[in-house]
Amino acid sequence: MNSATTEKDRYVVIGNPVTHSKSPAIHAAFAAQTGQQMDYQRLLAPLDGFAASVRAFRAQGGLGANVTVPFKLEACALATRLTPRAAAAGAVNTLQFSDTQILGDNTDGIGLVTDIVQNAGVALRGKRILLLGAGGAARGAVLPMLEQQPAMLVIANRTVSKAQELQQLASADAAAQAVRTVVTACRFEEIPGHFDVIINATSASLQDAVPMLPAGVMDGRTLAYDMMYGAQPTAFLRFAAQHGAQCRDGLGMLVEQAAEAFALWRGVRPDTAGVLQQLRAGLQSAAEQR
Ligand code: ATR
Repeated sequence: MNSATTEKDRYVVIGNPVTHSKSPAIHAAFAAQTGQQMDYQRLLAPLDGFAASVRAFRAQGGLGANVTVPFKLEACALATRLTPRAAAAGAVNTLQFSDTQILGDNTDGIGLVTDIVQNAGVALRGKRILLLGAGGAARGAVLPMLEQQPAMLVIANRTVSKAQELQQLASADAAAQAVRTVVTACRFEEIPGHFDVIINATSASLQDAVPMLPAGVMDGRTLAYDMMYGAQPTAFLRFAAQHGAQCRDGLGMLVEQAAEAFALWRGVRPDTAGVLQQLRAGLQSAAEQR
């Protein structure tokens, strides 16, 4: 905070659309909890005006931004320096401005891993992980998951060529990190064996659809995780529950990616449990009022 004035440090979430973003409520809760003097708003950027919106916000003294759909690739191009995980993801969801540079980070994947390992209490080391999807959401998850040193990462996608491209990037990441994880790619119908953790990074849940998975990929020992969330379980989580799997949606990932951005900007790590509970309660009461 600028100690000469009572002005708060300014941050935004930039997207289009951005009205429904929960990030302002999450960061307001983190700021209240940690005593940080910050103001966090939504910023609707025109579809052809992302860079101009960022420049204008920065010129007004803005210190950082979260970036959401559809601007994560443009944010990656705009950054003058990338964290290794943002470079691996090829996408940026967090910007930090200084006089000399625009730092681009990607906190989505570490948010996912923190939610699985710490909040759900499921270790990934030595495990068999199945990643469904090969788009931006899947790519962002790969490096943070590899850092946990699973035994196997299978990337399955409807369009198998995209899974194969992601597998090559992931194998290069694993080699660079000296991680021994076996990384393979396949179609849904070719998915081999049983998995400890299955992550749905497809957007199929938006269409209330479920990727066609072979029998036996999941059972009561499996954690089924959908990056999407809502008041009701997604189609994938309903399918997983029918197969006895432990189910978790992406609300915790949302809160954890925000906590990571907050820690980058403010140098303090907020406690996430209470904020996640509040969001969950908010979703449920909104559903009951419908
Ligand atoms: P995101 O940024 O959310 O990852 P994306 O890059 O458009 O969005 O990727 C969407 C992912 O969801 C892709 O893996 C896509 O599969 P294809 O590569 O075959 O298009 C997957 N997907 C979308 N709808 C799906 C469906 N109904 N069934 C299975 N996979 C689906």
